[in-house]
Amino acid sequence: MFPLASLESFVSFVVKSLPNEQGSHLENTITSHPKEDVFMKKTICVIGVGYVGLVTGACLADLGNGVICLNRNQEKCDNLKKGILPIYEPGLEEIVHRNQAAGRLSFTTSYDEAMQDAEFVFIAVGTPSGTEGEADLAHVNAAAIDVAKRIHQPIIIINKSTVPIGTGDWVADIVRENMPDPSIPFWVVSNPEFLREGSAVHDSMHPDRIVLGSTSREAAERVAELYYPLQAETIITDLRTAEMIKYASNAFLATKISFINEIANICEALGADVKTVAYGMGTDKRIAPSFLGAGIGWGGSCFPKDVKALAFMAATHGQHPQLLRAVLEINYDQRKRVVTKLRDILGGFRGKTIGVLGLAFKPNTDDMRDAPSISIIRLLQNEGAIVKAYDPVAMSIARRILTDVEYCTDPYAVAQDADAIILVTEWNEFKQLDMKRIKSLMRQPVLIDGRNIYDPARMRELGFTYRGMGRGYNGEGTC
Ligand SMILES: NC(=O)c1ccc[n+]([C@@H]2O[C@H](COP(=O)([O-])OP(=O)(O)OC[C@H]3O[C@@H](n4cnc5c(N)ncnc54)[C@H](O)[C@@H]3O)[C@@H](O)[C@H]2O)c1
Repeated sequence: MFPLASLESFVSFVVKSLPNEQGSHLENTITSHPKEDVFMKKTICVIGVGYVGLVTGACLADLGNGVICLNRNQEKCDNLKKGILPIYEPGLEEIVHRNQAAGRLSFTTSYDEAMQDAEFVFIAVGTPSGTEGEADLAHVNAAAIDVAKRIHQPIIIINKSTVPIGTGDWVADIVRENMPDPSIPFWVVSNPEFLREGSAVHDSMHPDRIVLGSTSREAAERVAELYYPLQAETIITDLRTAEMIKYASNAFLATKISFINEIANICEALGADVKTVAYGMGTDKRIAPSFLGAGIGWGGSCFPKDVKALAFMAATHGQHPQLLRAVLEINYDQRKRVVTKLRDILGGFRGKTIGVLGLAFKPNTDDMRDAPSISIIRLLQNEGAIVKAYDPVAMSIARRILTDVEYCTDPYAVAQDADAIILVTEWNEFKQLDMKRIKSLMRQPVLIDGRNIYDPARMRELGFTYRGMGRGYNGEGTC
């Protein structure tokens, strides 16, 4: 799709950690700006007010900058001006309100207004999957053109969206072709985002690292200045390497989960307990414990589309991304596996009422994009099941996607007259349920624990027909 990188990679670790007396190490890292400039308020425009754009805008405002967030949807923008957020993200409302009140954060639908004084423009629009798995760059293209048309002073354009390798160069070409005065200097910097939905504000304020890629080291360093108060390690590289760091990171995390899910399935066949296996593996520092939770697998707005996009890029450049394809296949098989487990117990779903606990793709978010709950519920319904469901925050979005589901007010209403329950999302509130009461409400006490949050022995003691994911033999009594 894009020509191969012509630039030499250069990587440097600009900031390991800053001392509390701000600025005292900066002479070593900032070559082209006086150190007092580092802590001056910057004027920033953020395009897109989704999980990344709104969090980025709010956090940069909280660091003292003047931020204007642009969104084309008038209703969303009007709501934001009133302090009503378009997404659920813990802690975000508070930080948005605080910075709005302080006059550091504002919202607009007008590119003219947003670009008026901007020194930095962050592009944080969606890059969903195209029909063949490629990243659809229509929103990035539109944003780049709209930005270009309003460039009237030197500006740094920062790609925060996850974009295919080569997009930074492509955005630079779009800007060059569309700016009214091509003599005005501009720079493109890739600044991939690593936040996790559900802890996005915390992750943005305490990043493991900041990655910045550019053809201009000076531009990358100017963006690094925005993040200095966070005291995070900053890695400066060329554009394509920065873009690849994001894809490789997501693909690796997805691989870890698919790996443990494959191990879980083998555990199930051989009578081992994957939770203990994962613990035993994770204590090895070379492996580390995170992303080793076996279960239904990953979903959401990032892993599925990013793994597909990386595989697509590899294939279109003559590579054979066999590991990435296996990672995707294992993941989608896990969703079917949950349904198979339940079918084996109930003998079929026609006329059966199945309760689903959790709809969001993971806890602490209302994001339903590629949520495993959607595939699982559709598989059940295709075989004649009646589905009831509950999620603490995602039900209003789920209602638009899954129209023929009975939405319940709490987990106990889900259990009422259910022939089985499938735990799909591991919200904390599901970990502390009164399971005796749940059982007493059900028509048949069948529990499929898609995230391994319950103790198998305890559930069986309570009288449930319990199945976890990879927790020993499928037969009763072994785990
Ligand atoms: N959600 C995450 O956890 C996460 C984490 C890291 C990276 N990312 C990446 O960040 C990017 C954004 O993800 P998101 O989850 O925030 O998406 P989102 O769908 O929640 O938000 C995208 C926003 O962009 C707006 N938009 C689209 N085109 C626009 C245009 N031309 N002008 C102005 N606004 C426009 C949309 O209205 C929306 O507000 C994606 O590339 C994604 O892969 C997401």
